[in-house]
Amino acid sequence: MYVPEHVFTNADMMKYMDTNDEWIQERTGIKERRFADRTNETTATMGVEAAKQAIERAGITVDDVDFIIFATLSPDYYFPGCGVLVQRALQMKEIGALDVRNQCSGFIYALSVGDQFIRSGMYKNILVIGSEKHSFGIDFNTRSRNVTVIFGDGAGAVVLQPTEDPDRGILSTHLHSDGNDAEILAMFNPGSHANHWKDGLADYDNADIGEMFVSHTMIDKNQNVPFMDGPTVFKKAVIKFPEVIMEALDTNGYKPSDLTMLIPHQANLRISQFVQQKLKLRDDQVYNNIQKYGNTTAASVPLALCEAWQEGKIKTGNLVCLAAFGSGFTWASALLKW
Ligand SMILES: CC(C)(COP(=O)(O)OP(=O)(O)OC[C@H]1O[C@@H](n2cnc3c(N)ncnc32)[C@H](O)[C@@H]1OP(=O)(O)O)[C@@H](O)C(=O)NCCC(=O)NCCS
Repeated sequence: MYVPEHVFTNADMMKYMDTNDEWIQERTGIKERRFADRTNETTATMGVEAAKQAIERAGITVDDVDFIIFATLSPDYYFPGCGVLVQRALQMKEIGALDVRNQCSGFIYALSVGDQFIRSGMYKNILVIGSEKHSFGIDFNTRSRNVTVIFGDGAGAVVLQPTEDPDRGILSTHLHSDGNDAEILAMFNPGSHANHWKDGLADYDNADIGEMFVSHTMIDKNQNVPFMDGPTVFKKAVIKFPEVIMEALDTNGYKPSDLTMLIPHQANLRISQFVQQKLKLRDDQVYNNIQKYGNTTAASVPLALCEAWQEGKIKTGNLVCLAAFGSGFTWASALLKW
């Protein structure tokens, strides 16, 4: 994992907008988050730092990596994706690099894709990265406070390898989507939509669309920052999280009580607590670090997984469930024997 050094507290947030520590902690659990250096750190460079650690811990070298999968919603460039920037930065061989755009579920989607390549025998060492630099794309004015206080920067990575041991590895992955709510949590611009999907989008007059991916008016009207209908996201998340976790457990013949650790996407502490309650899990069965890092979207699951492992809370043979829900809506789970 890699997180930037710069800690940005709720008190720091109050210097920019009308908000307060009590509201943020009560509604989200977040005390502080990390913000990347504006010019020296990017989504790709943070991903590279996490990747170096994963490669070292896997006991391999960059030359052993066969394939890169990079999940993010805050890429360095509109295109190309961050995968090729990692390939370049680590001076890797001319291996494939795939970019995944599934927001909060991005890491689990990426893991699932990697799992299929490992199972088919096509690749032996796959680098899977989730990384975000939200601080560069959020609005620090009061009008966006419901979104801005939630997000933080950071990266996490894993190396996937085959195993002969039937008692270890990814037991199954489960991926879902429902595009009916695509505009509930989204960043519309820059984009090619030209106001085609009218629902949920701001009203553009004709002069603003059809010429470029982003116009001056869109920027003036604050239409190039993330939009979120928080209560709708919350209501759907607390249904889909338990559903997709149970799907993973049922598929493999396990019960919630069998879980050593649930690593939920760190969307909001209240969502994690709701899921914990619904599945009747003990405190020591659910890992939360949103308090320190905020919601780091595609990075949140590997960041939490890494910290849980570093703290000795996940050991060989333990049953671990990863689960995520977010923009799209998309949601996913993975059940692992560590
Ligand atoms: C975003 C979220 C914390 C907002 O909490 P909420 O209880 O739903 O709050 P609402 O959006 O209904 O707003 C309630 C009030 O708080 C205010 N408010 C919003 N953000 C605020 C902030 N940062 N500081 C202070 N007040 C804030 C609103 O303006 C509103 O005030 P009003 O009642 O005077 O109009 C909550 O909806 C949530 O967590 N949703 C899920 C979001 C999520 O997990 N996103 C990531 C998905 S992966």
